[in-house]
Amino acid sequence: MTILERIEEKKEEFVGLRRRIHEYPELSMQEIETTKLVREYLDHLRIENYPNGNQTGAVAILKGAKPGPVIGLRADMDALKLTENTNLPFASKNAGVCHACGHDLHTAVLLGTACLLKDYQPELCGTVKFLFQPAEEGYGGAKSMIANGALENPCLDYILACHTWPEMPAGTIGVRKGAMLGASDSFKITVKGKGGHAAHPHKGIDPVVVAAHIITEIQTIVSRRVAPVDPVVITVGHLTAGTVSNIIPGEAVMEGTVRTQNPETRIQVSEYLKQLAVGTAYAMGAEAEVEYDFGYPPTMNDPKVIDWISEAVTEILGPERLLQVPVSSMGSEDFSFYLEKVPGALFRIGTYDETPESKWALHNPAIIFNEQAILTGIAGMVSSVFKISGSDMNVLKG
Ligand code: NI
Repeated sequence: MTILERIEEKKEEFVGLRRRIHEYPELSMQEIETTKLVREYLDHLRIENYPNGNQTGAVAILKGAKPGPVIGLRADMDALKLTENTNLPFASKNAGVCHACGHDLHTAVLLGTACLLKDYQPELCGTVKFLFQPAEEGYGGAKSMIANGALENPCLDYILACHTWPEMPAGTIGVRKGAMLGASDSFKITVKGKGGHAAHPHKGIDPVVVAAHIITEIQTIVSRRVAPVDPVVITVGHLTAGTVSNIIPGEAVMEGTVRTQNPETRIQVSEYLKQLAVGTAYAMGAEAEVEYDFGYPPTMNDPKVIDWISEAVTEILGPERLLQVPVSSMGSEDFSFYLEKVPGALFRIGTYDETPESKWALHNPAIIFNEQAILTGIAGMVSSVFKISGSDMNVLKG
């Protein structure tokens, strides 16, 4: 039997796992039932598993019969604070929470991958470590997994993950070398002026005007300080100052996000932004305090690992199912924290079909993912593990 026939044979089981997770979505760091389901399934497969120091999340280890590298495979498990707007029979039963980012599919892909690799254990070279991670959606789940030793004992040589993508057809896998997703950082600028009467501006320092200049100035970082081919986004999404029309307030506060793809540019932009805010305020007689928070780093795919994934997908699924992702996304992903320590890659699994619902953006409560993506994801993961570990690819061909 080929790997695709084996996956097809267990299709209902894998899709069933996804639907159970979808029906009972859980928010970041609250993935208690999801973790239970994951661990029960791993027990059923007789794969050694344990919690990862958190209340939620799990790690599992599968040792191949032959020597080889240690490959980590990561799935994120958390859902979003969003009310599902689909009529699916397995739609969310947890009010105000739903899986609109496809993390339910990621978890099902990893469980299916564990199931198949267990079958292939006698032919498998090396060790596979499965990381079922909580809290990808902005709560640092990857960081806590790493802090709790997920990358040690045994140490990982490579790491892989996948993410659903509604701009690619179901059944395809998307790859890209280098930057796949951006870094996501945030800042808060407090402009301190001198309050007073709106009719006597010369007796005070108007922080609103200073803030307006700063907002305009920081856009010149993108247009004048960074190379035009190096993507940067700076957005001020929140601005507050004052209470009424006839009083100059004492301060203005703005908050924003910075997205970059190049790790060096990321540091430079943070410095330019502080310099411009402080300097502009100083030039206008005010003061600016800048708090800068480095969030998720850019997701940098290792070129060699992408070559291996591409070869594996071409060999097992066919060249027509492998797509090159032409441009990276300015979205971000905490898988980047693992990639700072271990070479690896995140590949995309296409999820759209002929229905308009499948083409909604990620995080849209009406999105319906085509479940073929789960099966393709499993084939992509298992074949990539075989390729990277040097296991015999002919085993997958039946
Ligand atoms: Ni996501």
